[in-house]
Amino acid sequence: TEIGVVGVPFEKGQRKVGVGNAPKVMRDAGLINSLKQIHDKIDVKDYGDITYSIDHDISNAVPNMIMYEHMVACAKALSKQVTEILNDGRICLTIGGDHSIAVATVDGHIQAKSNVALLWIDAHADINTNLTSTSGNLHGMPVALLTKELSDYWPYLPGMDWQKPVMSIRNVAYIGLRSVDSFERLLIDNMGITAFGMEEVEKFGIDQCVHMALEKIDPTHSKSIHVSFDIDSIDSLEAPSTGTPVRGGLTLREGIHLMEVIHKTGRLSAIDLVEVNPSIGTKHNVDLTVSAAIHIIAAAFGYSRKGLRPKVDDL
Ligand code: ARG
Ligand code: MN
Ligand code: MN
Ligand code: MN
Repeated sequence: TEIGVVGVPFEKGQRKVGVGNAPKVMRDAGLINSLKQIHDKIDVKDYGDITYSIDHDISNAVPNMIMYEHMVACAKALSKQVTEILNDGRICLTIGGDHSIAVATVDGHIQAKSNVALLWIDAHADINTNLTSTSGNLHGMPVALLTKELSDYWPYLPGMDWQKPVMSIRNVAYIGLRSVDSFERLLIDNMGITAFGMEEVEKFGIDQCVHMALEKIDPTHSKSIHVSFDIDSIDSLEAPSTGTPVRGGLTLREGIHLMEVIHKTGRLSAIDLVEVNPSIGTKHNVDLTVSAAIHIIAAAFGYSRKGLRPKVDDL
């Protein structure tokens, strides 16, 4: 397995400071080594962090989208980087940053692979437009920016011409929802969007939910899978250091199992791990959150909780 890692120290898709430091904190906590230690056929290349420069002319160009010019600039650079990593033949692991960066990672993935199925693991649906959002925070809008069924609901978005909303909402499935705004709920119901909220996780179990979600968005078992994992999908007792925590979420065990199921498809091409905010909570809270994130990522790349038998040479 070849992995390409990119860090995105971006936090302007929401109002709290700190989430931009997550790539550094995750690397300092040993992320790259944890990946290398999964098994001996793993090859990791770290592509470093995204840098960008903003175009001040488009600040305040779109109503109710805070710090828009920053998101636009970062997203353009990140989309290119994700495409490059995939074209290098690697699975792309993107460490955020807030969830607005997924506009770029999914776009970059589509550029490289065209046929993409998207699993959105989150307490929130992140499908607001600038008209429905009550916060103006861009991290609540990426799904609406990405999907073609919602493209008519946006005004002209300057600086985003490179991004074509070509993904169908039919290729998107949610798992973990428990904090959904009223217009988001209307959309999910009216468009029949595949969504396994916490009620469904409770009712069917996480294993069934992941299998049913994949069956909906990739019935022919042929698509390139993208997992956009918001750490706030995990219960805030187990992952407290995040900007919009919600109780009653997935356990770490459920998060790990979900990733194990996706790993076994053999079609995982891209993962985003977003919304870890090392400036929220105590050191213990941050350590818990970071280690939860690393466990979830390791599971996606085939870390086995069963343990591995010794290599033939060691016998
Ligand atoms: N729905 C709320 C909003 O639009 C919260 C979004 C939280 N998103 C996130 N990626 N944590 O502001
Ligand atoms: Mn969320
Ligand atoms: Mn099937
Ligand atoms: Mn999110």
